[in-house]
Amino acid sequence: MLNFQLTEEQQSVQKMVRKFVDQEIIPYIAEWDRNHEFQPKILKRLADLQLTGVCIPEEYGGVGMDYNTLAIVCEELERGDTAYRTAISVHTGLNSMTLLQWGNEEQKQKYLAPQAKGEKIGAFGLTEPNAGSDVAAMRTTAVRDGDDYIINGSKTWISLCDYADNFIVFAKTDVNAGAKGVTAFIVERTFPGFESKAIKGKLGIRAGNTGELFFSDMRVPAANILGEVGEGFKIAMSALDNGRFTVAAGACGLIAASLEESVKYCHERKTFGKEIGQHQLVQQMIAKMSANLEISRLLVYKSGWLKNEGKRNTQETSLAKWISCNAAFEAANDAVQIHGAYGYSDEYPVERFLRNSKAPVIYEGTREIHTVMQGEYALGYRQDKELRKMLPAWPFEEVTVR
Ligand code: CAA
Repeated sequence: MLNFQLTEEQQSVQKMVRKFVDQEIIPYIAEWDRNHEFQPKILKRLADLQLTGVCIPEEYGGVGMDYNTLAIVCEELERGDTAYRTAISVHTGLNSMTLLQWGNEEQKQKYLAPQAKGEKIGAFGLTEPNAGSDVAAMRTTAVRDGDDYIINGSKTWISLCDYADNFIVFAKTDVNAGAKGVTAFIVERTFPGFESKAIKGKLGIRAGNTGELFFSDMRVPAANILGEVGEGFKIAMSALDNGRFTVAAGACGLIAASLEESVKYCHERKTFGKEIGQHQLVQQMIAKMSANLEISRLLVYKSGWLKNEGKRNTQETSLAKWISCNAAFEAANDAVQIHGAYGYSDEYPVERFLRNSKAPVIYEGTREIHTVMQGEYALGYRQDKELRKMLPAWPFEEVTVR
């Protein structure tokens, strides 16, 4: 049976996040964006509102809601700005959900529980200067030394680089084994040899913190290996199934914001003796935003439903991410067009929407990677199979904490 109705709990989360965004992000975001200022106090507020572990089981410090509730949170956050949705994408989507899927009990208690409560913040270190789409080309290495591994190398374009406490970092434990030589490690900022540095001069998401990580002879206990040695590529890809889901959900928020601002302006601005909304070519842009919002949400919720069912969803999540991020870019571009010359200035928020909408077409799988993946699925060259460890289905089983 198909059910398109949000539950009462989901509606109340949606209302709560919308109010928070309207009161605590939208009034200030233009200035934060202009000044390239990330506000750690917003992370604290997200924790107060229990939004840092919304879809993490209660026994690991979360709220225990379903995966589509995370999508709702991400959509509402990005209605305000992409920066804080990105924060939840890396903290919950790429880090906490990966610990939930692949972590052992000790790792979940030590790292997942405080992250779900928002006492600690998590991030994800995969991309390198020479390894973006081609993940297996990474050069960061991890060499065994007694009970530890020594990690050397660097990562780039890491969201929350200066604010996260814990990172899932991917490194080569076998430089001759390609994708099978990658291993995932849980790394704490306080480990000696760890450094971070923000990237300046970004086109968009200027209110966000993004940058580089440097590891120089950083000693990481072998107990911090996530999954098994050599399993890191699969762990990274499965993490991206969750990260991409949150990016796709956020894109819905950007489309919604573009539509909201455009409709408002269509009623305010008059040309040729009538509201600009009365002109058919403007209506065409509005209609496209409205249709794409609906299409994108349906794709996101389908991906979330598969997660709730405990099923592999790489294909559906990639489709949702591809379609919704393109649609958000188009919606923001049209929103600027509708606002005319005013849209080109920061007097209105739509120029920020346009700048913010570009990164998600590039990160977490470029538009081109997702196009190729969808082509391969359609041609039968790519299939999704069951993984050694799957994300737990929702409702979560009651687990006795050991
Ligand atoms: N989950 C688990 N395992 C997976 C998987 C998934 N989603 N996708 C693939 N695998 C497994 C495969 O089953 C395969 O396993 P076997 O060897 O046992 O068969 C193995 O991984 C290799 O898979 P592929 O053959 O599909 O790998 P590929 O080399 O063809 O690569 C790709 C596929 C689609 C190009 C992939 O490399 C890719 O998605 N690249 C883009 C990377 C990306 O999104 N980077 C973004 C980084 S994060 C970021 O952007 C920062 C940020 O947000 C803040």
